Amino acid sequence: MLVSPQAESNWEGLCAVLEDVLEDQSHRQLFALEVGSGTGQHVIHFAQKIPFITWQPSDITEEYHNSIKAYIAATNTKSVLQPIHLDVSEPWEKSGLAGKSCDAVIAINLLQYSSFKTAEGVFSGAGQILRQNGVLITYGPYAMNGIITPSCNEDLDVELRKTNPEWGLPDMDVLRQLAYGNGLRLERMVEMEEYNKCLIFRKL
Ligand SMILES: C[S@@+](CC[C@H](N)C(=O)[O-])C[C@H]1O[C@@H](n2cnc3c(N)ncnc32)[C@H](O)[C@@H]1O
Repeated sequence: MLVSPQAESNWEGLCAVLEDVLEDQSHRQLFALEVGSGTGQHVIHFAQKIPFITWQPSDITEEYHNSIKAYIAATNTKSVLQPIHLDVSEPWEKSGLAGKSCDAVIAINLLQYSSFKTAEGVFSGAGQILRQNGVLITYGPYAMNGIITPSCNEDLDVELRKTNPEWGLPDMDVLRQLAYGNGLRLERMVEMEEYNKCLIFRKL
């Protein structure tokens, strides 16, 4: 099982946002997809705290699939399905997920480590896979109208672009436009720890 210290420190805040956003639908079992799941720590923690959601983890890396499987087995968590291969920048039909089958899609710390094609894929995929009124939640640091604050996020953006010129903090306004083009609207922004934000987009 792989361990991400960052996932261990940010899951509780994320879980509180999920509970807040989805609580009004807690009378039924919801289905949520996590894209770029990484180690699997988030889905396991979320499943243990929020009983009314069945989780579908996904990633593109076999090492992460193995870690997610190990967490499911070690914790005997029934409401987390086995991970699937989903490259969000490719057509999502390939993953076997049906259209309009999800109540929520979550992408944690994915967009800043991705090309614009990946961000486009997240919004077009979520637009297809979410049921009406479903939510897409993205978590991470963002630029706002081309401006990055505070200086630690500016430094992070520089570091990311040095690692891969296609990476970097995504601009909220660009994401808002991607959302608009795919039948989603930015409904809320929640300030999180260490200058991160949760953006909550709703499918109309
Ligand atoms: C920085 S890690 C974050 C992992 C996890 N969400 C977390 O917060 O601990 C980024 C993750 O996105 C995945 N990823 C990168 N490109 C992807 C793509 N095109 N489609 C799906 N997942 C991708 C990576 O394999 C990795 O697991």
